[in-house]
Amino acid sequence: MAVPVETEKLVGDIRAIKEALGKELLILTHHYQRKEIIDLGDFRGDSFGLSQKAAENSQVRFIVFCGVHFMAESAAILAQPHQTVQIPDYEAGCWMADMADSHDVEKAWEEIASISGDSTVVPLVYMNSDAYLKAFCGRHGGTVCTSSNADQAMRWGFSIGQKILFFPDQHLGRNVGNQMGLKPEEMIVWDPKKPSGGNGPEDIARARLILWDGYCLVHTRFEVEHILQMREKFPEAKIVVHPECTQEVVALSDACGSTSFIVNYVKNAPPGATIIIGTEINLIHRLALVNRDKTVLELHRSLCPNMFRINLKNLLWTLENIGQVNVVTVPDAVKADALIALNQMLKLPSNTG
Ligand code: 13P
Ligand code: SF4
Repeated sequence: MAVPVETEKLVGDIRAIKEALGKELLILTHHYQRKEIIDLGDFRGDSFGLSQKAAENSQVRFIVFCGVHFMAESAAILAQPHQTVQIPDYEAGCWMADMADSHDVEKAWEEIASISGDSTVVPLVYMNSDAYLKAFCGRHGGTVCTSSNADQAMRWGFSIGQKILFFPDQHLGRNVGNQMGLKPEEMIVWDPKKPSGGNGPEDIARARLILWDGYCLVHTRFEVEHILQMREKFPEAKIVVHPECTQEVVALSDACGSTSFIVNYVKNAPPGATIIIGTEINLIHRLALVNRDKTVLELHRSLCPNMFRINLKNLLWTLENIGQVNVVTVPDAVKADALIALNQMLKLPSNTG
């Protein structure tokens, strides 16, 4: 298929600026980005890998983050003072991250502490959250996790405390809790709109894992019905899903793991294999393109519109205004506490499969 002239011009202009800036520039791209953006990046990865890259590359001056805001913000926290982090579209947010704000979490924290007696509660925040929540975890002896190290983070949390408050994604928390052998009655959901999160004092006292009532609209679109239909159509296929899916979907799949786990699962499958994936559609399309010796199919079409906001036009505009526009900043006091939690996370091993 011929590339439209406008696309060709945008790509050419981006490449020219990249060349001019040379080693001063680092373009990071998340796995859910459109293919044309991935092709222009210096490094692609999941949120854990990208935060590692941002922390490692202290020699670059400009980091352009093609992903969503919480990822760019984490890079800004990890960046050195001489570096700027820019995001091509400031509106590229994350619905799940918006489901927990620091006021509600502080309120829940106090309520849980007042009921938990002598138990130590460890706060564990998913990377998909704003800097204030990461700072909250830094101040209260907790850490950050991504889907590639949530099990390690939870193990770490239970090694220093009796209870974990996990936010904002209840599904990732529950799936990891299940994997660690927690009983359903040891996991409760905290709904910030209800008094005591909708729980009785004895539920809170018994709980080991308190799950914030947040979720990803992209990953909760996958349903048991989709798995049943695909199993009937492709009985020989393997089904792999992201842990932001519901526990019912995870239970019926063959494997569940982070974005990097899924990438490696497809790469390591034998030639001729059929793999059906429950995650963001742009990643699935790219995996199908680069693994032509296998059949890679979507469990159901589900696109993250936030990730999709980054395009060639706003990437070019960002590069034309390097260091100037859509600069992601975090207040110093917040940054210092958030860095404690992020550095704690970077010490955890990750499971990229
Ligand atoms: P990763 O941590 O696997 O990159 O995923 C982030 C995300 O937003 C998934 O929906
Ligand atoms: Fe947020 Fe879901 Fe998009 Fe990931 S896929 S960035 S969790 S809205």
